[in-house]
Amino acid sequence: MIRAFIHASKVLTGEGILLKEGRMLKPEDVSAIDDGAVVFDEKKILWVGPTRELPKKYQRAKTTDLRKKRAIIPGLIDSHTHLVFAGSRAAEFARRAAGESYQKIAGEGGGILTTVRATRSASVQDLFQSALKRALIAYRFGVRTIECKSGYGLDHATELKCLEVVKHLRQALPQMTFVSTYLGAHAVPEGVKKSTYIDEIIHRTLPEVKRKGLAEFCDVFIDEGYYTIQEGERILRAAKKLGFKLKIHADELGNTQSTRLAAKLQAHSADHLLCVSDQSIRSLAKADTVATLLPGTALYLKVPYAPARKILDAGARVAIATDFNPGSCYSLNLPLMMNLSAMQMGMNLAEIFAGVTYSAACALGLEQSKGAILPGFDSDFIVLPYAEFEELYYRMGW
Ligand code: NIG
Ligand code: FE
Repeated sequence: MIRAFIHASKVLTGEGILLKEGRMLKPEDVSAIDDGAVVFDEKKILWVGPTRELPKKYQRAKTTDLRKKRAIIPGLIDSHTHLVFAGSRAAEFARRAAGESYQKIAGEGGGILTTVRATRSASVQDLFQSALKRALIAYRFGVRTIECKSGYGLDHATELKCLEVVKHLRQALPQMTFVSTYLGAHAVPEGVKKSTYIDEIIHRTLPEVKRKGLAEFCDVFIDEGYYTIQEGERILRAAKKLGFKLKIHADELGNTQSTRLAAKLQAHSADHLLCVSDQSIRSLAKADTVATLLPGTALYLKVPYAPARKILDAGARVAIATDFNPGSCYSLNLPLMMNLSAMQMGMNLAEIFAGVTYSAACALGLEQSKGAILPGFDSDFIVLPYAEFEELYYRMGW
């Protein structure tokens, strides 16, 4: 059935952002149409423009009049989350709040490994139920596409179990798009030699994940105390050979030059970048690799934000995501991350908008169908309960 929303206060199409491929954006690149209309069917957007120019052939479509009280934007994209895990790290949070560092707690066998213990003993059904609740919370924040990483299994069977959960989420919530990432190299499992685990990732898990179609992306946490740049490169090259798209948790806790590796391997994204070097920024600016910034993590870890202005002014594309996870950012609130991007990282309107639409779509390889309101794109947009898009992140943490 063909439907139309008419008299939207504004329709933010994102066309200007698309034309510039997400680089060097000015606020007006959001391409806002005043008193706009969107015509669409179950699958695709058919037409967008000012309501007064609505083509005759669509005037008999089933129409909703928004009376200039509501704005329309593309469905938001959270391009980096660790949605599937069991257990709670509330006790560790209390220790961090009292001053202990994330690294100290991890070094004592806590951190990611705490969540791994809980996740290994959870059933698929329990993991699914908790992930489903979280996905619905993200949905209420306007998120329509969400990336989900494994990485709390750290063994063949549990990593597969977590990726299976994403498959179940897809069936349970067809109104959302789930992108699945295998992050077996998230930490080194307890009691296993690192080289043995890397061999398992490369020779056993990656091929099986591929065969079963359980993930489109492969990610590695390259950082001090986790995986080295050489280990990361080995895993990612093996993944690429099998046809995975790549991501890297890069330069988060220290500077490992992993952002540069992401550009070199033509990864879809390099994520975190809290400690990124100028040299890495230059290589990123020349590449298609998206810089995915996660300001909630800097806030939650009490460390300086990523140098967003430097990265943007160098000409790189930037996505903004929650990094939702039980340790370093326990928040699903993407609009809050947009607020931090504006107030703490100095990003402008179009940069923030692109960060949760077009550039986030690029980070997931979905830029042909998601992140813009233009003919041919998916009918994947949200009608905001207010007239101005800025309300979305002006309302801090609502
Ligand atoms: O993205 N950096 C690695 N992984 C997560 C933290 C995971 C955890 O603490 O459970 C992150 O920050
Ligand atoms: Fe992460």
